[in-house]
Amino acid sequence: MQPSAGPPAVQPRRSFYNKPDNSIMVSTATKPEFEELRPGVKVPAQETILTPRFYTTDFDAMAEMDISANEAELQAILTEFRADYNQKHFIRDDQFEQSWAHIDGDTRRVFIEFLERSCTAEFSGFLLYKELGRRIKNRNPVLAECFNLMSRDEARHAGFLNKAMSDFDMTLDLGFLTKSKNYTYFEPEFIFYATYLSEKIGYWRYITIYRHLEQHPENRLYPIFNFFENWCQDENRHGDFFDAVMRACPQMLDRPKTWSDRLKELPRSLSGKAWARFFMVGLVPPKLWSRFFLLSVFATMYLNDVQRSGFYAALGLDAREYDKHVIRKTNETAGRVFPVMLDVENPKFYATLEDCVVNNERLTAIANSDAPAPVKLLKKLPLYAKNAGNFAKLFFMKPLDAVQMQSVVR
Ligand SMILES: [Fe+2]
Ligand SMILES: [Fe+2]
Repeated sequence: MQPSAGPPAVQPRRSFYNKPDNSIMVSTATKPEFEELRPGVKVPAQETILTPRFYTTDFDAMAEMDISANEAELQAILTEFRADYNQKHFIRDDQFEQSWAHIDGDTRRVFIEFLERSCTAEFSGFLLYKELGRRIKNRNPVLAECFNLMSRDEARHAGFLNKAMSDFDMTLDLGFLTKSKNYTYFEPEFIFYATYLSEKIGYWRYITIYRHLEQHPENRLYPIFNFFENWCQDENRHGDFFDAVMRACPQMLDRPKTWSDRLKELPRSLSGKAWARFFMVGLVPPKLWSRFFLLSVFATMYLNDVQRSGFYAALGLDAREYDKHVIRKTNETAGRVFPVMLDVENPKFYATLEDCVVNNERLTAIANSDAPAPVKLLKKLPLYAKNAGNFAKLFFMKPLDAVQMQSVVR
């Protein structure tokens, strides 16, 4: 949803908090300016190429997936999901019962943005998994139950984050978000690449913050971080589920295709969707798609986080160092299932991303200027072209052979 014209001046609202001694305190903290849907409910952040997306897919193709080649591992994962280790984990305790008015100004703004982005990403997982569980229930019961149980976890995560937002006098209307967001269609293979990576990168993001704050408790700004250790285990299990499904369908990973294989996949109808699928999935090998998704996930995170380095600084973290660590670990993890890994240690990798950071800063300055819209567009075009060129440069950088690299890492 696009916010209507510029943000209106937000009147400072008086907020009441229960202090631990149950007396009432009036907050006088400076309010960050956010557009409100109605009092206390935030207008969702404007959708851009870097914001979390909502997905939909070909549910019939998902229902027909044959997972028998790895059924035992998937059954074991399902047993773990049913055990529901975090059933009692997401319960708010006394630590939350205090005023958060001291987190104010810019820190409060970046904090709310972090909670909103995380909540939207978790909720996006919930919607997709819930819909998959519902649509394939009768045709692929093992996969359906796994999706349902993962949607249970994501609902808890999103709800916990949204409740945290209410500590800062802002929440998201998740019903409104469901109806107002655009849904991106992905072929089932792409859903598996993208969700596998987002689960694993989520695991590394949460555990890295948790471990850092364990070493530096003075930077624990807010108690939600204490929940990250068990929380990230949910994401790790979800990632393992996608790993197991991809192993059950080796054509998703690196099946060498002969021309006769490819011809067998020629669509027998004139449907545009079938031909688009043939060109994207039938002709483009999984190695290239692995590179594309690894790069998209890493670049999106890096550009987002560097832009919000204030949030990481508030936790005593350097956004760039944090991201480099998370990218290195996720790249290694992904190399256990994907046929390739990116050469993230190559100095050109981050130098090129840094060039995108500078271009994005210029794009933001143009967007915030008073120039007329056509002038803004003309100024932006060369920067978009530069970013596209940088993405292509990163995409064509020689990748690493995952099997070979994993033996080195081990
Ligand atoms: Fe989650
Ligand atoms: Fe997850």
